[in-house]
Amino acid sequence: MQTDFLVIGSGIAGLTYALKTAQECPAKTVTVLTKTQSDETNTKYAQGGIAGVMDFNNDSFLKHVEDTLIAGDGLCNKNIVEIVVKEGVDRIQEIIDWGAQFDKDPEGDYKLGKEGGHSESRILHHKDVTGMEMERALLAAIAKQKNIHLISHCFVLDIITQHHLGYLITKSTPDIECYGVYVLNLSNNKIEKIAAKITLLATGGNGQVYRSTTNPAIATGDGVAMVYRAKGRIENMEFIQFHPTALYEPGVRGQSFLITEAVRGDGGILRNAAGEAFMERYDTRKDLAPRDIVARAIDNEMKVAGTENVFLDCRHFSKEKFTEHFPNIYDKCLSIGIDITKHLIPVAPAAHYSCGGIKTDEWGRTSIKNLYAAGECASTGLHGANRLASNSLLEAMVFAHRAHRDAIQQINEVAYKNDLPDWRADGTSSPKEMILITQSLKELKLLMSDYVGIVRNNERLLRAMKRLDLLYDETEELYKKTIVSPQLCELRNMITVAYLIVKSAGFRHESRGLHFNTDFPGKSTMTQQIVL
Ligand code: FAD
Ligand code: SIN
Repeated sequence: MQTDFLVIGSGIAGLTYALKTAQECPAKTVTVLTKTQSDETNTKYAQGGIAGVMDFNNDSFLKHVEDTLIAGDGLCNKNIVEIVVKEGVDRIQEIIDWGAQFDKDPEGDYKLGKEGGHSESRILHHKDVTGMEMERALLAAIAKQKNIHLISHCFVLDIITQHHLGYLITKSTPDIECYGVYVLNLSNNKIEKIAAKITLLATGGNGQVYRSTTNPAIATGDGVAMVYRAKGRIENMEFIQFHPTALYEPGVRGQSFLITEAVRGDGGILRNAAGEAFMERYDTRKDLAPRDIVARAIDNEMKVAGTENVFLDCRHFSKEKFTEHFPNIYDKCLSIGIDITKHLIPVAPAAHYSCGGIKTDEWGRTSIKNLYAAGECASTGLHGANRLASNSLLEAMVFAHRAHRDAIQQINEVAYKNDLPDWRADGTSSPKEMILITQSLKELKLLMSDYVGIVRNNERLLRAMKRLDLLYDETEELYKKTIVSPQLCELRNMITVAYLIVKSAGFRHESRGLHFNTDFPGKSTMTQQIVL
């Protein structure tokens, strides 16, 4: 199969890029691949909304830039922050034009929410299911576009480079090129190759590396692992954002339900096991301090009290006010016996967002030729050491647009690479026992949660690396002799991503933003990114 533009991922980044590119180049083919159903993405679960300067009477680009820089704790690229904040407004208008609806007040003005670290109300939202609404609008627009082929249940295994043509490729090889991808087509279980002139990775986050996460099962860091295997550049992987308030449901595995920060924006109060509103002891911004501070405060309160959760108090809300903005959260809580107007909501931090990822420049270009990245899998320089709430959907749209602008200028200069070799599966057989994969996955999640979570130290990082080494060796051995499956490939990718997180965390000899190491409690003068 051949396609001019290949897009891996059907979240906000992949779909925005595909739609714009297909509209602008009607004679070219755009193929979008996604590993499960087309809407099963981190995007679909976004609750709070998308940040953007909409009210120029009270807000300004300068304030949004400042808030982003403060949250990023000295590691943001200011040029990129300004690009995203300023261009973001046009991108928001585009998705509105494609049909996404954001809540308005009776006067017809957008209702703007507030979240941690924002000095003004600037979060556009659709109730508490903003991501679902944006994904819906994008998929509906894509369905009308004749030159886009959206193929679900296609698991991308690796990007094809000179390595697959028999050349020795190292990190210092100049001009590594991407010629397309190998995919496991889950409808016929065959491994196929797709040649592409230009490829965009929009594979999302990696929250599944941890035991407790707000991310769905698809968030296994595949794009980052593929680029690392292909000897491309990855940066800032130590900065994993833990959302302070995932619903605490003992016994629930996999994805934790999120209680959006917008609930605290509207007046929700965090309380510890003794009922104390503790955030004022940690930060003058109290419950609306940036996420790293709130998550660490909760972690500390839980450790001091020996509990597995704290509480979010919404009992002072009227049912009408709460359900107007948060109907989904209200229903979810009620379904497990929590009436938010009478009961406290048990919450605990959960892995939520990867600030680092595939290193890109200001046009979304990776270190590999003809390969772009956008969305959560990319590291653009916007977030630095900690992402400001609701900046992620904005960043994804801005960089999908920028990658699209650059790609359509390059496309006529790029030719298909002929004679790409078939995937080699010699010497492999069906897996004998799935337990070899599922047990390793459990061990991985456990070690990352216990040793590489909100609070780290040198000994824990060392232990994590030793255990990862063993998991890596065992999994590579299994991979060489087993017919590939999504489960095995995801495990392999997650081990790579975990390695990158631990390695980067080990290199950062300070505590900054989301990376807190008790052996280096202060900030150093180290203001560079860690690139692997
Ligand atoms: P995703 O939307 O995650 O899409 C990834 C795509 O890649 C999927 O289609 C997947 O199938 C595909 N894929 C991955 N690997 C492969 C492979 N090997 N082969 C084929 N396909 C593959 N951000 C905000 O700004 N505001 C919010 O309010 C907000 N709320 C959030 C709430 C929750 C619960 C979560 C989890 C995140 C939230 N975020 C929020 C973060 C934001 O939603 C994500 O960062 C963003 O949606 C990521 O979009 P994306 O396009 O990069 O990736
Ligand atoms: C939330 O709604 O609290 C999540 C917002 C985000 O991750 O930006």
